[in-house]
Amino acid sequence: MSLTFRKADPSDVPSVLTLVESAYRGDTSRKGWTTEADIFSGDRITAPGVLAKITDPCGAVLLGHDSAGALVTCAEILRRDDGVVYFGMFAVDPERQGGGIGRQTLERAEAYAREEWNSTLIEMSVIWFRDELIAWYVRRGYRKTKETKPFPYAEQLKNGGVLRDDLYFAVLDKEL
Ligand SMILES: CC(C)(COP(=O)(O)OP(=O)(O)OC[C@H]1O[C@@H](n2cnc3c(N)ncnc32)[C@H](O)[C@@H]1OP(=O)(O)O)[C@@H](O)C(=O)NCCC(=O)NCCS
Repeated sequence: MSLTFRKADPSDVPSVLTLVESAYRGDTSRKGWTTEADIFSGDRITAPGVLAKITDPCGAVLLGHDSAGALVTCAEILRRDDGVVYFGMFAVDPERQGGGIGRQTLERAEAYAREEWNSTLIEMSVIWFRDELIAWYVRRGYRKTKETKPFPYAEQLKNGGVLRDDLYFAVLDKEL
């Protein structure tokens, strides 16, 4: 599918929030091939949280719209102090998954980090047991590192429930 990508601005907050919630949480997300609906009962992110990512001077939220102007995909990239680029808030409309949109978005985010920031390493955190998702990233050239990160239970509980008590993140990276 032909998509038009651009950086988000503050007026995009409501549509990004709707897309992210539909892809990650609740019954709509079960239409996709990977979901967090069985892990969390609360929201993935709040409107102020999305706005903070869009306005972060060290970051960019990339949006992909279809030819009718509908938002179908988004992702966040963030330049950290250590020079590594963090990739997150990655979502594709659950009704449109499995057709290569996610692949396009990931490639676009990698190109942005390389071309705009001269970044050489990109990293993401994935909940350790989401094997199908980790396999997808590995097929895109990512490496599962030995590093793990704790799950921010206190932060997540502000947005709603966590259905498991064994969460932590596996860290994946890729040289750009
Ligand atoms: C992860 C996500 C962004 C991928 O978007 P997408 O548009 O479906 O991605 P693509 O169409 O490019 O790729 C789909 C892949 O899923 C694979 N796939 C399809 N059905 C699958 C299934 N039931 N189990 C495992 N893999 C499956 C396809 O084989 C394809 O992989 P390939 O290109 O290596 O063959 C999307 O599923 C999503 O929004 N998920 C919910 C939010 C989320 O978990 N984000 C990532 C957090 S780290």
